[in-house]
Amino acid sequence: MSVSVDIAGVTKRFGDFVAVDRVSLQIRKGEFFSLLGPSGCGKTTLLRMIGGFEFPTEGVIRIGDRDVTWLPPYKRPVNMVFQSSALFPHLTVIENVAFGLRYKGLNNGAAKQKARDALALVRLEGFEDRPPAQLSGGQRQRVALARALAMEPEVLLLDEPLAALDQKLRKEVQLELKNLQKSLGLTFVFVTHDQEEALTMSDRIAVMNQGRVEQLDASHHVFEYPKTEFVAQFMGAPNFFTGVVKSLAEGLLYIGGRTEADIRARTTSDTWRPNDPVRFVVRPEKLDLRTKSGTSDGEVSIEVTIEDRVYQGVNTVWVVRGDDGERYMIYEQNDRPFQESSRFRVGGRAFMSWNPRDTVVLEKKS
Ligand SMILES: Nc1ncnc2c1ncn2[C@@H]1O[C@H](COP(=O)(O)OP(=O)(O)OP(=O)(O)O)[C@@H](O)[C@H]1O
Ligand SMILES: [Mg+2]
Repeated sequence: MSVSVDIAGVTKRFGDFVAVDRVSLQIRKGEFFSLLGPSGCGKTTLLRMIGGFEFPTEGVIRIGDRDVTWLPPYKRPVNMVFQSSALFPHLTVIENVAFGLRYKGLNNGAAKQKARDALALVRLEGFEDRPPAQLSGGQRQRVALARALAMEPEVLLLDEPLAALDQKLRKEVQLELKNLQKSLGLTFVFVTHDQEEALTMSDRIAVMNQGRVEQLDASHHVFEYPKTEFVAQFMGAPNFFTGVVKSLAEGLLYIGGRTEADIRARTTSDTWRPNDPVRFVVRPEKLDLRTKSGTSDGEVSIEVTIEDRVYQGVNTVWVVRGDDGERYMIYEQNDRPFQESSRFRVGGRAFMSWNPRDTVVLEKKS
């Protein structure tokens, strides 16, 4: 697959502060690529450097096979939707969307038609003649999106474009945007701090932490096989276990120790040695709470104390503590009507169980 954006050893410093720290990654042509991470981790700064609104302190950026590191935005085959939309206040919605098209040389009729199509994509038919001041924040954001889409750039850079939308509309627009990207065959670089949004839309996700890329993988892979505690935490799996390597054979790691149970876990690394300390994760929805230990064959089971029960609609969250002092979250799917009473009570003891295949071994610390 051909490369659309190549980021090679890019660092951005603001004075002494390192906002983007030696990032290297390649975005493929036609893919939906997301930069995911908490506030302040450097997502916008990296995106702005791809767009030409900021220049790297070190490193090279190529788009297609052109070095664009020092080119201004208008000389790059990209368009950017900014975190807060900047519309021309004195132009109407349709004039805002058609503006760049007119500038590109389209006649008024053709530009307006394309603008109307783009507005339909973001569900803003009927808003053509309003000035931006008479729109809600979410509507303004969609005008900015339509304006960028109408230009049909090779690469579209999107900085949290759906953040201002309510949840229902946001979910709809997520799917539409994804379909649109696929059908037009555009390359999207999408910034978000919402893991569910990134999973819904992306082919691949780069998870960022303090200016660095912690993990870059297919989206389901980032979710199911986090490599670090930070990624696991960010993807909603804050369940960490400590063990020790007993042996290693044919891609399987045998872990024992604090868990008082032997676990066979898949590992892609062969650098493990017996007696190495090992950290691993089990996702909350893969854990079960049981009254008895080892109720089904091959299950791992640990005795825990129940500390809390939280009703969340779809799930009930059980917060438990192991005898090693670690806290764990267990999601129980609410597939039956809610009842005050339960087999388990806060303060009581129970067994936390899982299928050993759901054990995810984190990267070995060097
Ligand atoms: N022009 C600047 N001068 C100094 N520091 C800056 C500048 N722009 C960004 N930073 C700092 O760089 C870091 C990364 O900022 P950036 O805007 O890239 O974060 P982000 O991941 O997009 O966060 P958010 O999710 O809140 O938008 C932040 O700590 C920010 O304060
Ligand atoms: Mg940002």
